[in-house]
Amino acid sequence: MTLAGISLVLLLGIINLILVVFQVSTGKKWLKVNFTWHRRLGILLLFTAIIHAVLAYLSR
Ligand code: HEM
Repeated sequence: MTLAGISLVLLLGIINLILVVFQVSTGKKWLKVNFTWHRRLGILLLFTAIIHAVLAYLSR
């Protein structure tokens, strides 16, 4: 499955990597943001990671 010619699995993988870096940086308080965003984006990451895994599995 592609979006504008780019693989959705690849796109979600990059988004997940950015979200993990954000989560660790804000969890460790290296990056100071309202902590609500750590909780919200942590939940979003759960869903984007599951979609990434399911699409990768289906496209084998
Ligand atoms: C994959 C997703 C997540 C990652 C990688 C992550 C990562 C981290 C890290 C590295 C810390 C610091 C731990 C420490 O220094 O002992 C932390 C703290 C914390 N995280 Fe997350 N987190 C994630 C998702 C979430 C979610 C979904 C919630 C809540 C809904 C949450 C709530 C908290 C809380 C309450 C703390 C403690 C903050 C404090 O010590 O003041 N995290 N997280």
